[in-house]
Amino acid sequence: MEKLVSLAKRRGFIFQSSEIYGGINGFWDYGPLGVELKNNIKNFWWQKMVRDRSNVVGVDTSIICHPQTWVSSGHVKSFSDPLVDCRVCKGRFRADHISTLPCPNKPSLSVEACAVEKKGEGELTEIRQFNLMFETFVGAVKDDSARAYLRPETCQSIFTQFKNIQTVSRQKIPFGIAQIGKSFRNEVTPRNFIFRSREFEQMEMEFFIKPEGDEGQKWYEYWVDQRFQWFIDLGIRASHLRKRPHDPDELAHYAQGCTDVEYEFPFGFSELEGIANRSNYDLTQHIKGSGKDLSYFDDQTKEKFVPAVIETSLGVDRTLLTVLADAFTEDEIGGEARTLLKLSPHIAPIKIAFLPLSKKLAEPVERIEEKFRKKYATDFDAVGSIGKRYRRYDEIGTPICVTYDFQSEEDHQVTVRHRDTTHQERVAIDQLESYLEKIFC
Ligand code: GAP
Repeated sequence: MEKLVSLAKRRGFIFQSSEIYGGINGFWDYGPLGVELKNNIKNFWWQKMVRDRSNVVGVDTSIICHPQTWVSSGHVKSFSDPLVDCRVCKGRFRADHISTLPCPNKPSLSVEACAVEKKGEGELTEIRQFNLMFETFVGAVKDDSARAYLRPETCQSIFTQFKNIQTVSRQKIPFGIAQIGKSFRNEVTPRNFIFRSREFEQMEMEFFIKPEGDEGQKWYEYWVDQRFQWFIDLGIRASHLRKRPHDPDELAHYAQGCTDVEYEFPFGFSELEGIANRSNYDLTQHIKGSGKDLSYFDDQTKEKFVPAVIETSLGVDRTLLTVLADAFTEDEIGGEARTLLKLSPHIAPIKIAFLPLSKKLAEPVERIEEKFRKKYATDFDAVGSIGKRYRRYDEIGTPICVTYDFQSEEDHQVTVRHRDTTHQERVAIDQLESYLEKIFC
């Protein structure tokens, strides 16, 4: 993880937010390569979940919504983590993490072990609940009536807008509503780089179904399989992924099933996505809270009912960390160590680097790059030895380098070099387009 974090910063994927002021814990900024990778991941999700399907539509709702939303959803009352303070180091920790969290004063010991070693467990305060929602005030007066929350998940507005969206899209049940957007949680202990942060993006889809019969189980199993396959299609090694069905005592009282897709990080198997059969709890709560009718009328059977929902919910940032961790590779080429990111060509932030062997050859290469720039994310680099340039592009996961040398002037061919194998072959410039299409399409 240390090597990965260092690469991510050095090469402009991810920086600590407000670094010049010492940073702010749990917040991160994405650099030029990071934003490209992030957009590629989001686009891949949107393509597979919305564009490829006739029964899923998309929305983009506001981050701050009516505060009653969070009362009805249960977040105001119970979206909290158990918290303890250490009276010695004054640190504040999630009570369920103290056996693994390092003590800030003595990082060789866990918070728990340190408390025991020092003066016994009495050094930690009693556990109390801490609500994770960030609060703000809407308008000029800062009193209780103006209190609002930054959303801790994107899905609640999908529920509150269910009727509007169903009406305008003319979708019939079963159908889904998808959204990508920012969420905020005042996590007690953000950790593992961007794995758990305080500001992050989610990609969520709520799939509305009939509340009765075996529909729930059927669609739940369908979405667990679809979502697991999505990570494999993204390029993640299947050997590092697993499905973890929740035990009955982990489930919310209304949930009829939940499975996490987990990835084996250097810090152990951890959740990437949850797929949950949530019954019709969410819509029912908003019907109660708003007094509005959010039921669905089936004009074929003439039945009216409150739909149940299968939810698929994952974090963009956590997926990006997975992509980086899974692609991070160290090998040896000709006796020299190299670091590379084995990113799938479809999500690599830069797809093709165009490299003149000598600065004198820059002009024809720029002309070739110009031709491909509109179709692929390309880059041009004329600085340093060709070997060093190859290593630079390997390290950021660029699948293909195209090198133009003095011979290219004569034979109108370029050298195409493949990142993972370092295999090189000569390709005629007028064949380059169809050659690259086979790799990227
Ligand atoms: N609407 C359901 C929901 O939000 P969740 O398990 O709390 O469920 C879903 O969150 C996903 O959002 C997680 O699997 C994870 O990928 C991502 N996520 C949650 N909290 C996060 C955090 N603090 N930092 C980064 N990603 C987070």
